[in-house]
Amino acid sequence: MADTLTVTDNRTGKTYELPITDGTVRATDLRKIRTGADDFGLTTYDPAFLNTASCRSAITYIDGDQGILEYRGYPIEQLGEQSNFLEVAYLLWFGHLPSQAEYDAWARTITLHTMPHENIKKFMEGFRYDAHPMGVFLSTVGALSTFYPEAKQIGDAELRRIQAIRLIAKVPSIAAYAFRHLKGQPFVYPDNDLSYTGNFLSMLFKMTELKYQPHPVLERALDVLFILHADHEQNCSTSAMRGIGSSQVDPFSALAGAAAALYGPLHGGANEAVLKMLAEIGSVQHVPAFIKKVKAGDGKLMGFGHRVYKSYDPRAKMVKKTADMVFDVTGRNPLTDIALELERIALEDDYFISRKLYPNVDFYSGLIYQAMGFPMEMFTVLFAIPRTAGWISQWEEMLRDPEQKISRPRQVYTGAPRRDYVAIANR
Ligand code: ACO
Repeated sequence: MADTLTVTDNRTGKTYELPITDGTVRATDLRKIRTGADDFGLTTYDPAFLNTASCRSAITYIDGDQGILEYRGYPIEQLGEQSNFLEVAYLLWFGHLPSQAEYDAWARTITLHTMPHENIKKFMEGFRYDAHPMGVFLSTVGALSTFYPEAKQIGDAELRRIQAIRLIAKVPSIAAYAFRHLKGQPFVYPDNDLSYTGNFLSMLFKMTELKYQPHPVLERALDVLFILHADHEQNCSTSAMRGIGSSQVDPFSALAGAAAALYGPLHGGANEAVLKMLAEIGSVQHVPAFIKKVKAGDGKLMGFGHRVYKSYDPRAKMVKKTADMVFDVTGRNPLTDIALELERIALEDDYFISRKLYPNVDFYSGLIYQAMGFPMEMFTVLFAIPRTAGWISQWEEMLRDPEQKISRPRQVYTGAPRRDYVAIANR
């Protein structure tokens, strides 16, 4: 059986044979299909990229029907249970699990880059007192490009590695500064004796004590959540990272754009939207009425549905387990019962079953973050920190891919045909 596709153009009666590689045909091969010498050739029309692969990638594998997620071939469940976030960040960037010596050197280097330039602190102080931390986060990440102008040399592999380390190391510090600014509290400098998430908790919650001691259960829970959010192949923000990066801009500027894409309520902003929705529903008794409203087309069940997963999001299962671990320490988030009831009803309802709508990673994560003391505005920032490791690894892969060029989709023009300009007095 030949790996080809035979296409007959009924406009001309001509037949073409197109190669099939890895289950795909090349869109540019369709350009051969033309009605005449001045025809540009056939193009594909795929708004929102429902069925178009934009790259070849060896980083993350998802099987949306089976609910499988793997980073570099390792199942997310094993990584979530046995690894830690810094090791996962190493895995995403380098493609293999580190030896002990490699891990120690990596963790040490990241730790030694956690301190932002002092002017970053001053820059962040300039935001309004109630600035949304995600807006603060994405603008500050963009501003980093002005502190590291050598980051423009994206052809230098060693410089790219250094910017990746800086980003992974500094995003928790920037996120914590954004949080402290919102609270009106002084910024806390990094503590290099603590773990990646332990130090983050210290920068967030340290008050007058000389040394902050993170609760080991909360430190681990946050680390697990970071592992689960580290990468998710060609989602909206990662495509933004690759798209912006394809112009050969520095990684800080590209990452600011990726973070902006994550901010939206249909993407990483969903965890904040879920909590608002749960608070609005208010009690378990109101759940059936809310579901009825959603089914009538009035609003969405936030935290449900996914472009790729058409079964239970494997991350959502793990987040649910992590919630129990956290609630044992913090006490149960009272909104949990509403979430459980929403899930129970939705999973039995034909509207959701027929559309294959299941809880996604954002459905339960906000409940944990709220129980840990985070305000809702911080939820998407907590997503952006680990996703930085994914964004930067995807960016690196794109730059190493000889097939990639500046990203530039085509369009189907639907506007007015050519017409002559009319002077304003004559319109
Ligand atoms: N609640 C109710 N109905 C929904 C939901 C939902 N959460 N999600 C999808 N649907 C319905 C749509 O209305 C549509 O119904 P129709 O066929 O009757 O018109 C059908 O299911 C298919 O939905 P699409 O919008 O075509 O699916 P798409 O792949 O474009 O959207 C998305 C995926 C954006 C995630 C969507 O499911 C959604 O908006 N969910 C809520 C927001 C959310 O939780 N986002 C987080 C995603 S995970 C992440 O980014 C980390």
